[in-house]
Amino acid sequence: MEELNLEKMLEEIKKTKSLKPLQELRIQMLGRKSALQAALSTMGTLPAEERATFGQKINMMKKLVAEELDKQQKMLEEEAVKEQLAKEEIDLTLPGDNYEQGAKSIINAISDEIIDILIGMGYEVKEGPEIETDHYNFEMLNVPKDHPARDMQDSFYISENLLMRTQTSPVQARTMLEYGGNKPIKMICPGKVYRRDDDDATHSHQFTQIEGLVIDEHITMGDLKGTLELLAKRMFGEKREIRFRSSFFPFTEPSVEVDVSCFNCDGKGCNICKGTGWIEILGAGMVHPNVLRMGGYDPEKYTGFAFGIG
Ligand code: PHE
Repeated sequence: MEELNLEKMLEEIKKTKSLKPLQELRIQMLGRKSALQAALSTMGTLPAEERATFGQKINMMKKLVAEELDKQQKMLEEEAVKEQLAKEEIDLTLPGDNYEQGAKSIINAISDEIIDILIGMGYEVKEGPEIETDHYNFEMLNVPKDHPARDMQDSFYISENLLMRTQTSPVQARTMLEYGGNKPIKMICPGKVYRRDDDDATHSHQFTQIEGLVIDEHITMGDLKGTLELLAKRMFGEKREIRFRSSFFPFTEPSVEVDVSCFNCDGKGCNICKGTGWIEILGAGMVHPNVLRMGGYDPEKYTGFAFGIG
């Protein structure tokens, strides 16, 4: 028979640091084949007067062992839960993952700036499709088929009558028709345009334009000049001046190309303005009577100007 040493048994329980071995220990110490159980079964061999005390002593030992086992089990179970919690803990005070946001592209930054200025001058922002019909991209802008002006803008045709718009000007025609020929118009249309150009440092098959169109009674070229001068000063600074150079567009008459005095050298000439002191910023002009007429506006009553910032 194993020796019954309570101290040693309790010690062993305390030393057991996980639940499964503890369960085995419980069976070993209190189960049917345990030393305590074996001791109880020897009781019958004892002299009658010793039996009661012996029985009490063994039962007391069983009780103490069971208590110690329960205590240890509870402790180990709590530890297991704590460990689990620690493993799954979410630290809400940790800084979040930093997603790099990137910067606004220079094209969008500039076009947003121009749009802001023009909205401040009372313009409404319009949109049009990037896949455009030949009709709106050319014919409504006074460029019939076989007109030599089509060569100014090498186009990507999708089918005979569909192309990637070569300019935002078709939105002029769309807006005129939308307004019905009897209301003033003051709109801008920013957007992508496409031309068959070989890409290099200063050319791209896709670039951004901002179209502008104003139609009302008594609109003059002076209005155009005042508008563009204000835009240039807001964009490039109070000291900027603009100049008109005579030009040609089929949908404006007269047509001009507009330069702004170089913001870098103040007009003295540098490598940004290629030594001229001026930088070309847009094409513009007075809306051609044919374009007004096709858009439903009576050129005897209405006049207008248009510009296209490239
Ligand atoms: N659409 C012309 C171009 O792309 C620019 C322009 C717009 C000129 C409006 C005059 C009036 O070259």
